[in-house]
This record gives sequence, C-alpha cells and structure tokens, in this order.
Amino acid sequence: MVKTRIAVLVSGGGTNLQAILDAQKSGVIHSGEVVLVLSSSAKAYALERAAKAGVPAHAVSKKECGGQEAFEAELLRLLEEYRIDLIVLAGFMSILSEQFTRRFPERILNVHPSLIPSFCGKGYYGLRVHEAALAYGVKVTGATVHFVNEIPDGGKIILQKAVSVEEGDTPEILQKRVMEEAEWIILPRAVEIVSAKMMEMRGQ
Ligand code: GAR
Repeated sequence: MVKTRIAVLVSGGGTNLQAILDAQKSGVIHSGEVVLVLSSSAKAYALERAAKAGVPAHAVSKKECGGQEAFEAELLRLLEEYRIDLIVLAGFMSILSEQFTRRFPERILNVHPSLIPSFCGKGYYGLRVHEAALAYGVKVTGATVHFVNEIPDGGKIILQKAVSVEEGDTPEILQKRVMEEAEWIILPRAVEIVSAKMMEMRGQ
C-alpha cells in the first residue's frame, strides 16, 4: 500500500504543520505521509519543526528567485523531485498563480482562519482575518479547509468548524482559539480524507 506523498508549504510558525505531523504520529493521518516541507521564508520556525520530525525541508524565497514565475518554477522543480501527490498550504502566505494551481486540480489544500465566504480572499490572511471578524462584530467565526483553485480562498470546501467569539477577545486571543478549536483539528482530518481518496484512485 503506497501512501499519498504530501508536501506542506509554510511561511511562519508552522503550528498547522505540527498538527499534521502529530496526526501522522497518532494515526489520524495514515493514508498519507509528509515527505517534504517548503517554506517561503528561511527564518520560518516551521523549518525547525520539519527538521525535528526528520522531514526534508527547503526554503524558497520569491525575492531571491527574482519574481513569481521563477519562484513557482523552483517550487515545481522540488515538488517533482519529491514526486508529490498532494500539496497542503498551512499558513503559506504567498498567492499561487492560476498557471500553477491549474496543474494541480483538487490536489492543493488550504486552511483559512474563518468560515468562508466570510473574511476571505485577497488581503485576508493571518491576524488580519481575526481583526476583520472582531471589527464586524460576528459572534461566531471558525476555520475552513478547502481545495485551492485560481480564485483566492474560492475552491471547493472540504471541512469547516465554528468557534465562538467571546467578550473581550483580541485578534491574538481569537486567533489562538480558532487554531486550537478548529484549524488543528480539521486540517489533519481533511488531509487524511483527501490522501485516502487519492490512494483509492491509484487503486491501492
Ligand atoms: C493560520 O491561522 C492559518 O490559518 C493562516 O495563517 C496561520 C498560520 O499559522 N493562514 C491564512 O491566513 C491563509 N490565508 P501557522 O504557521 O502556525 O500554521
């Protein structure tokens, strides 16, 4: 039985990467295996998490590559080198071009820290999402895992989980609650669902 080969793309702290690695250890993810971590920043703590887990990791900087096209070409080269089946964006702060996403229909997952279609799309990432939710005054927010297509945060939804907004929440407090109660739970689950489906499609 050949497992689905997964690459996790990160840019920062990598707590969602950690949730995936932990889920692999505990058996929540058993149809796929993280074989590569790619970071858009050489300083990302996520790279240390990958090293601790013994997963090969590379930093690819858009600036050093000289632009979006060369950046994506380098990502593609590494994804091909590691024979990646499934790409997981876990706090990856760079929007991928249509040319790139088209190559991987229903083969790229993303976790977004709101209930899509609220507070999503261009400009909504990280803490900004929680700032917008608090500014609007919603009482319920959450997280979404979806397939990535050419529309930012516009692909088919796989899983969502709601989280309450509490009196006195700051963006930081809300971000932490959404991660703990939603992202770290639904992202590994979605990774397993899609990995299992891909394994089945390969006839294994
Ligand atoms: C997470 O909250 C993730 O949902 C969000 O960035 C954070 C990364 O944290 N992603 C986006 O906003 C994408 N639009 P992490 O590096 O600790 O996983």
